[in-house]
Amino acid sequence: MAYKCRVIRDGKGILKMNFIPYGKQFIDDEDIQSIIETLKSDFLTTGPKIETFENEIANYCGAKYCIAVSNGTAALHLASLVLLEENDKVLTTPNSFLATSNSILYAKAKPIFVDIIPEGNIDLDLCEKELQRDPTIKAIYGVSFSGNMLNQGKLKYLKENYNIIVLEDNAHSIGAIYAGIKSGSCQNSDIGIFSFHPVKHITTAEGGAITTNDEILYKKLLTLRAHGMVKTPQMKPWEYEMRELGYNYRITDIQCALGLSQLKKLDEFINRRIRIAKKYDNAFSNTLVKPLYRCNEQKSSYHLYVVKVNFSRLSISKEELFLKMRNKNIGLQLHYIPINKQPYYKSLGYGNEFTPVMKNYYDECFSLPMYPLLTDEEQDYVIKTLFEILDA
Ligand SMILES: Cc1ncc(COP(=O)(O)O)c(C=O)c1O
Repeated sequence: MAYKCRVIRDGKGILKMNFIPYGKQFIDDEDIQSIIETLKSDFLTTGPKIETFENEIANYCGAKYCIAVSNGTAALHLASLVLLEENDKVLTTPNSFLATSNSILYAKAKPIFVDIIPEGNIDLDLCEKELQRDPTIKAIYGVSFSGNMLNQGKLKYLKENYNIIVLEDNAHSIGAIYAGIKSGSCQNSDIGIFSFHPVKHITTAEGGAITTNDEILYKKLLTLRAHGMVKTPQMKPWEYEMRELGYNYRITDIQCALGLSQLKKLDEFINRRIRIAKKYDNAFSNTLVKPLYRCNEQKSSYHLYVVKVNFSRLSISKEELFLKMRNKNIGLQLHYIPINKQPYYKSLGYGNEFTPVMKNYYDECFSLPMYPLLTDEEQDYVIKTLFEILDA
């Protein structure tokens, strides 16, 4: 894979950089070719590429079933419809994109926000305390934040001892492995979801998928993806029946053609992300910039590279750092604003939960550029600029 360098030198040898975002897609000629072939084929949607993509995702992560859908939010929506009932209580994390807990609301269930651990994932020990305090709690919705999977031993224990439903939002973690367990394999969860938005590991532009090992859930999800329609061999050729209220959350063959081509490169993408993470780890060791976690045995697939800086000890604020880095053409990002503090959630009565680790995370953390196309030279520039601004 060729990594194109976007560093430009002017006549005087001065370095100029194109804008370096926190994340972006990698598209090559092979991807473009596979889209063109599908555009010339008989099926733009509801064709054979969809099932092939689903089978390959299921094989890749070791789940029995996969349903590809129009985006990660649609995956969460359908998952919540099959897992939850009205008024169910669901433990979830404030440290995610809005879609995770919104999907609980779509199913008319009730999110309960639990604090996080310093590495960014939901605190499963606190979840256990909540389960002991309130045995009516139905489910845990966790996120494998930044590409780092939930503690699988603890999930297994909670499922076995508290009869709890578990959804893993794996939007950040395709390709991650925890003690031999692959993200999306659903070994210790009922359902996993992926997103294929361009900033994620592989992209279909918009797109998402649901994985599960449960045949009953799989069949319900297939029906809900397509308007709640059912067609059986006993029916007349033109007949179909709508037996429940479903949606059009179909993904297209064009998107799946891109997804299939991207999937071939996924392991290489992840290796590149890990090399970038190791270089950041080395650059930040024993400095005021602390990686959220370091590359270790547990294989994060590094959707994000998050660092912590104690701004209360510096003369620069986080906002100033973001603006100064932007002036130097580097896009930092914050993942995430606590969901429970959003105005809509506040209007529902949320916002005052005791989540000190999340608060500290929000004050100190931010994400650095991390994507396969980031060149070594660009990464050096990001590191050097960050230190220059913080030291000043
Ligand atoms: C953790 C998480 N969950 C869900 C989603 C929703 O995915 P999509 O944008 O494909 O709807 C995202 C996307 O940003 C995400 O980061």
